[in-house]
Amino acid sequence: MATSKRKILVTSALPYANGPIHLGHMLEYIQTDIWSRYQKLRGHECHYICADDAHGTPIMLKAQQLGITPEEMIANVNREHQQDFADFRIGFDNYHSTHSDENRELASNIYLKLRDGGYIKTKTISQLFDPEKEMFLPDRFVKGTCPRCKSEDQYGDNCDNCGATYSTTDLINPKSAVSGATPIMKDSEHFFFDLPAFEGMLKEWTHSGALQQEMANKLNEWFEQGLQQWDISRDAPYFGFEIPDAPGKYFYVWLDAPIGYMGSFKNLCSKRDDINFDDFWGKDSTAELYHFIGKDIVYFHSLFWPAMLEGAGYRQPNSVYAHGYVTVNGAKMSKSKGTFIKARTYLDHLDPEYLRYYYAAKLSSRIDDLDLNLEDFTQRVNSDLVGKLVNLASRTAGFITKRFDGKLAKVADNSLAESFIAKQEQIAEFYETREYGKAMREIMALADIANGYVADAAPWQLVKQEDKQEEAHQVCSNALNLFRILVTYLKPVLPRLAADVEAFMQQPLTWDNLAADMSGHEIAPFKALMQRIELDKVAAMVDASKDNLQAIETAPKAETELDLDPISDEISFDDFAKIDLRIAKIIKAEHVPEANKLLKLQLDLGGVTKQVFAGIKSAYSLKTWKVS
Ligand code: MSP
Ligand code: ZN
Repeated sequence: MATSKRKILVTSALPYANGPIHLGHMLEYIQTDIWSRYQKLRGHECHYICADDAHGTPIMLKAQQLGITPEEMIANVNREHQQDFADFRIGFDNYHSTHSDENRELASNIYLKLRDGGYIKTKTISQLFDPEKEMFLPDRFVKGTCPRCKSEDQYGDNCDNCGATYSTTDLINPKSAVSGATPIMKDSEHFFFDLPAFEGMLKEWTHSGALQQEMANKLNEWFEQGLQQWDISRDAPYFGFEIPDAPGKYFYVWLDAPIGYMGSFKNLCSKRDDINFDDFWGKDSTAELYHFIGKDIVYFHSLFWPAMLEGAGYRQPNSVYAHGYVTVNGAKMSKSKGTFIKARTYLDHLDPEYLRYYYAAKLSSRIDDLDLNLEDFTQRVNSDLVGKLVNLASRTAGFITKRFDGKLAKVADNSLAESFIAKQEQIAEFYETREYGKAMREIMALADIANGYVADAAPWQLVKQEDKQEEAHQVCSNALNLFRILVTYLKPVLPRLAADVEAFMQQPLTWDNLAADMSGHEIAPFKALMQRIELDKVAAMVDASKDNLQAIETAPKAETELDLDPISDEISFDDFAKIDLRIAKIIKAEHVPEANKLLKLQLDLGGVTKQVFAGIKSAYSLKTWKVS
């Protein structure tokens, strides 16, 4: 089906330059990367850009702690981030930094346009100030005793212990987290962006129909609460860009952060002469623009950012797609508490394509949280990718090489392949609408059909019979062609596997090639494409993440509960044959109080009722979406 070539610019949120990438972040980069790779696979012009978000107080203070300049620190972190992303095969077309010349120029220009348009106001406000460090303190840098439950050492805006939210000035015995000094109140003039002036335009954008339903609902709530002036300036000392007409005042990090999308794209344009900045950002742009973000930063992307673009004479994004948060084994990951698995720690132990597939299999277009359950992860990857997908080729390719000169037969009955190819529109639609979980289910259902076909035809028996050689050749060729179609469908998710299969099949896997005639085609000798996940590697990764944890008070459930041993032993075929394996109907399921994983099940085994406990509860838990 010929579709016209689209011009697409797609972004992921810019990770902060003060810490490592973790598996929570990776959900977003994997989600966006799959989408961008899908667009490219369809032949569209798609540019996927990102950058480090390099400004702000936490970054300034972290560099001070390390005894290096912020510039040195962000350069180091940028290198690490880019390496992590490259190793996870995130195919950015450009990765830049918000601390760049392009961004400084764009941020200044946008600010000046907003100012000249009358959208910048000034107001004097009073804030907590560290008299020793001589700096204003963001809420997170003030600690004290919770006014409600009296627990000590709580942050300036909310209590970790009782969940109370309060104003920093209500904290009992407040202390600067930077110096330990008791903060004082101090006045300063701040610059504000007039968000309420854009209410009409924002409402129109919200109702344009391109936003996720949950997001549109959230925006309506915010409209009802009323839009507020947004404080966009910070006083020195601050690591950021100085405001052009206000020496000693700096843009708040969130002002120049989204402009970093433009800055990174401008940087890309300077390296390539086939793309033009204004074609993508100009008021009359016909290109498509999408931002993929996490649910915690919806406000910035769906209110401040479209309003800034409008006020400065640029186009609007076509949509902003938010995803939920990653939890690990049902528990929340938290940077400040350190309950996270770093991208690098994962890479030290496991193949990135396992995680790419697992996230894809669990992603939808909705803003639900996603649990990375490490047992389920292991089981799912081994069963789908190794057991179903790769197995198709590993069971059949050897015969082609050994017995049939490495050449595929002209398959007489192509109906299976045709039925697989007939699914292309459906699968394309699932990718396009970010329903990756549905796409993976569809593809795995096809893999099941292909495996059933191979199992029934049993080419390993056919090859042993003199008069069944042609049939064996047919079956193996057909199976490999089905395999080729499936890997093409999975190419956005599994780029490394797809590249290896391209080398093995000696053919580029493209959407246009789906129905290619493979008769007589020569393939290369088969090499192992993917290993099973070994449970000891998962356990080792969890162990290594424990070493990473800083400032941890109590052992998180995520780690202590992980119980990998019971399913880690492989059994011999003889032992397997002794198993009495039966299918039962679940007639009742109950929660087991205190147990995080167990459900009490009553099974009907055809007349006989049995009660068992199954560790499958986490697969059915519901999470609700909160915007902070
Ligand atoms: N620097 C800002 C974004 C500026 S965009 C102009 C920021 N950085 S971040 O490093 O904290 O997060 C980067 C992205 O990762 C965000 O979209 C955030 O929602 C996402 N995630 C961070 N932790 C996450 C999980 N645990 N789970 C899923 N996504 C997570 O925000
Ligand atoms: Zn409290």
